[in-house]
Amino acid sequence: MRTETPAEIRLEDYRPSAYAIDKVDLDIRLAPKAAKVRARLSVNRRDGTAPGTPLVLDGDDLKLVGLKLDDVVLGADAFEATPDRLEIVAPPADPFMLEIVTELDPDANSKLMGLYRSSDTYCTQCEAEGFRRITYFLDRPDVLSVYTTRIEARRTEAPVLLGNGNLTATGDVPGTDRHFAVWHDPHPKPSYLFAMVAGDLALVEDSFTTASGREVKLGIYVEHGNEERCGWAMDCLKRSMRWDEEAFGLEYDLDVFNIVAVSDFNMGAMENKGLNIFNDKYVLADPDTATDQDYANIEGVIAHEYFHNWTGNRITCRDWFQLCLKEGLTVFRDQEFSSDQRSRPVKRISDVRLLKSHQFPEDAGPLAHPVRPRLYQEINNFYTATVYEKGAEVVRMLKTFLGDEAFAAGMALYFRRHDGEATTIEAFLSCFAESSGQDLTQFALWYEQAGTPVIDVDSRYDAGTRQFVMHIRQQVPPTPRQPEKQPMAIPLRIGLVGPNGEDLEYGGIGGVDVEGDVLRIAEAEHKIVISDVAVKPIPSLLRNFSAPVLLESNLGEDDLLFLARHDRDPFNRWQALQTVALQALIAGASAAVEGRTPDADPQLIEAFASVAGDESLDPAFRALALQLPGEADIAREIGSDVDPDAVAAARNHLRRTTADSLRSTFRRQFEALRDGENYSPSAAQAGIRALRNTLLEYLAHATGGAEGDLVRKHFEAADNMTDRYAALNMIVHAGLEGRDAALSRFYDRHRNHALAIDKWFTVQATAGHADTLDKIRALTAHPAFSFGNPNRVRALIGAFATGNQTQFNRIDGAGFDFVADTVLALDERNPQVAARLLSAFRSWRALEPVRRAAAERALRKVEAKQNLSRDVQDIVSRSLQ
Ligand code: ARG
Ligand code: ZN
Repeated sequence: MRTETPAEIRLEDYRPSAYAIDKVDLDIRLAPKAAKVRARLSVNRRDGTAPGTPLVLDGDDLKLVGLKLDDVVLGADAFEATPDRLEIVAPPADPFMLEIVTELDPDANSKLMGLYRSSDTYCTQCEAEGFRRITYFLDRPDVLSVYTTRIEARRTEAPVLLGNGNLTATGDVPGTDRHFAVWHDPHPKPSYLFAMVAGDLALVEDSFTTASGREVKLGIYVEHGNEERCGWAMDCLKRSMRWDEEAFGLEYDLDVFNIVAVSDFNMGAMENKGLNIFNDKYVLADPDTATDQDYANIEGVIAHEYFHNWTGNRITCRDWFQLCLKEGLTVFRDQEFSSDQRSRPVKRISDVRLLKSHQFPEDAGPLAHPVRPRLYQEINNFYTATVYEKGAEVVRMLKTFLGDEAFAAGMALYFRRHDGEATTIEAFLSCFAESSGQDLTQFALWYEQAGTPVIDVDSRYDAGTRQFVMHIRQQVPPTPRQPEKQPMAIPLRIGLVGPNGEDLEYGGIGGVDVEGDVLRIAEAEHKIVISDVAVKPIPSLLRNFSAPVLLESNLGEDDLLFLARHDRDPFNRWQALQTVALQALIAGASAAVEGRTPDADPQLIEAFASVAGDESLDPAFRALALQLPGEADIAREIGSDVDPDAVAAARNHLRRTTADSLRSTFRRQFEALRDGENYSPSAAQAGIRALRNTLLEYLAHATGGAEGDLVRKHFEAADNMTDRYAALNMIVHAGLEGRDAALSRFYDRHRNHALAIDKWFTVQATAGHADTLDKIRALTAHPAFSFGNPNRVRALIGAFATGNQTQFNRIDGAGFDFVADTVLALDERNPQVAARLLSAFRSWRALEPVRRAAAERALRKVEAKQNLSRDVQDIVSRSLQ
């Protein structure tokens, strides 16, 4: 057992800092094992701070080698320094200059926070608290400073030197083999947005002219040899810049915008001012190594980081509790961008699928937390699906609740009023309260209350009175530290679908406040009466997923299948079919637990056949409609005493019976569809490939591997990664003949492309077979595997823990033990990646008793280890609470 409990940081303890740092001058002299950083900080006592108040700066693992105040060396009794903290005991009352020299070892930095090296390139990651690993600082987002950065390195080692803002000087250091560059960023920013990069990198250049005529130089820096794979990212960047001007009236504000791709990165990407640093998987793409999904992800992440320039950088967070202020809002913005670039309904369905598969389980387990937490031990553990994805849903609901106009006016007011500030959720919401004249007090509960609300709708038509009556009840489940909940403000978009499939007209809606076709649910219970409804309708509820809730209703399978065919809301067409499939799968899982074969549902299979063949529908939509809910989604819906083997059995059974009964139809459709002569990542082509691969996946799982030849041919003939990787997954997961041969062909073809080799690891890690864990163990000794590269760890072990329900949750506990041991080994090297991996246990309490006990043993073993990082300690203690 660990003795000391790490400190909890609380929102209500927020106080402004005693001092401000208006200017930061950095001089960074790079060397692999001993880099020197001289920081000159212009420090100001804030109004209200008593003269002589100590100045306490944050540090993390720092080595102090020099300290001056107003150019005078500080005596030993004037300061206290540890690796984690620097205190100036009695600073001057007037503004002063503090000069701090630290020495860093970038090569030894395996946490990938602060200054580190990735394949010989020097780079930085400072969000959330990495700047304190570079120099002592007030490392908090409400301290905004103007940065000037001089970077110096050996010219051969690092011909490219990049910083935030605009380049102001370059030159050689006389008499040495070194050179330097000076970058100046005129926009005051918090330390988490600081970045520098130095290395031998190739540049792909372009330019963009803003709406007001400013010429911006665009650069993407990559390892030599990757220049050809940057075209898509550059295209996405230019489209993002244009879109933010058109959709929000927001222009870029510097002369340069640079993106650097590195291969060792803890997260997806980082929005440092004018110098975004990316995990290379969100930059590099060509048809041979990237799937359509990769292309779509790159588009989303490039846009996301670019959009942060306004939502995050120009307007930043007052403290880390406000993380969703920038993240939820920026996800909302990148979702809107992708919707405008592609098909809006398809994008919405994909986003909701992601929300339900990642955020809903988080919200239902021990790691549940509000969109704006009030308490944390380690902020890096709060870059979660709840803060990002649910945070985006809250912004979307605001738009649904207030209507487009009031929402747009609120956004405009936010940008006008808070530009240049570090602010809060309250300030954000005030802008919308003002623009709409609405009271948003209850709406604000979305930021405060964790847990997914459950909405129960019981509705009936009365032919005599021509009334449609809905009883609506809401309930928010208890979550850690929040046993009691208040009713939420929930926008419920509805329509009444008539017998011919068209929306019915109605008289009025009583019993609830209404905005267009949106019911503003506010109470625990509503009785809603819709008058003058001519015939019995089928209600289409929660259209376009108007709120992140779980919906229960008294609609039967026939009603849902009717909606699946006719609803004019495409989202609900998809959802209706998913609901029917989910109900069948839940029944199938109970049957499997009892040792029975699940009943076939001919109506469901018939509905699949009809969507598959409906050429009036977008192929991408048809593909989504045909995809069965995942094993984790079914488990989440079951909620307790889950037996993952039974869930998988039910799902495999439905997939096989569908494949067997629709085999010739699916095969004919597969053969008839054509994605085009030359590969393009366009939404249209990608949709056709998605549909073909979805049909083929069914065929791959037909009884006895009957369509094995077709799948192997698809693999061999593929001229792009989408088809090749889809086919490989089918061959490996369906256990088709030729599995080993296909795996080695894939490996040999892509051995020099790390991102493709990640896929090779993932396909093996996600096979639901009894020998998978042994294979994974063996793969950790493969020469291409490394615990030092986060993408590789996630590709093999992360994919196993989150994407392999039956084998991670093995009844003998071996899957849990393997992941727990990996977390412990990894924690010494990289706590962030270790903690993220451990969060795969988030649904352990919902398992049946034998597996639950095994999961708890594995978690207890992690908990018992001495000297855990704060990251892992935080996740393990909350998981067990
Ligand atoms: N702000 C970055 C993004 O959204 C995420 C950075 C998170 N980094 C971390 N170490 N927690 O895109
Ligand atoms: Zn972000």
